[in-house]
Amino acid sequence: MKIVVKKTKEEASAYVAELFSDLIKSKKNAVLGLATGSTPLDVYANLVQKYEKGEISFKDVKAFNLDEYIGISPTHEQSYKYFMNVNLFDKVDINPENCKIPSEFVDHPEQRGNFTVYKDYDEAIYLAGGIDLQILGIGLDGHIAFNEPGEISDYTHVAVLDQSTLEANSRFFDSIDDVPKTAVSMGIKSIYNAKKIVLLALGENKANIVKQMLESAPTGQIPATLIMDHIDLTVVLDEAAASKLNQ
Ligand code: GLP
Repeated sequence: MKIVVKKTKEEASAYVAELFSDLIKSKKNAVLGLATGSTPLDVYANLVQKYEKGEISFKDVKAFNLDEYIGISPTHEQSYKYFMNVNLFDKVDINPENCKIPSEFVDHPEQRGNFTVYKDYDEAIYLAGGIDLQILGIGLDGHIAFNEPGEISDYTHVAVLDQSTLEANSRFFDSIDDVPKTAVSMGIKSIYNAKKIVLLALGENKANIVKQMLESAPTGQIPATLIMDHIDLTVVLDEAAASKLNQ
């Protein structure tokens, strides 16, 4: 694993955007794994700028998103589809048909233990050639996508959101009662199968979970620890998110 600490969130985001643009320049039909939340916003803004300057084109790029809420429509302002359209897809030359979200692949549910699994999404990723570069944020409870503590599933599945996630995400809704309680989320193996992963964490409120993620043994109670031994993982932090390391 490589850990990169940048002074500011802007510099950390620019570094991650560079990873994406380098990939897209070298592989026009790159397959991107994309995330939502506040963390990747500046990364996407940087990529839009690079597109506007003519440095990169998304014409042949394919994108797979990590997760989507269940129970709100794609046009709802807090849906992840809407988020991606507004912050990236509508602003670049990507083909909308190449922008996939897991909630569009729910026709063939399979019951695996406690989980409803949607393998069609993982199959679509596989058939596209696999994800070349996956960006991840991290939840305050250590979740990645919506793989919540103790609620780990390998493949794309229905995830029940933790109380702490409902509280964290309520900032985007009128009240916590409006936050969907479930989502469709890529699983740990879906994520782990990416050829390269970049996990970005920004700000002081992520400092505790970043420390736990990097210093704990792998445990389903801190889902991000389960991908720390990925063969090509870069953890990108700003100084605030890195502030509790080595303490
Ligand atoms: C959300 C998303 C995650 C995201 C995380 C952190 O619930 N499902 O993919 O990484 O929470 O969000 P933020 O970047 O806003 O801190």
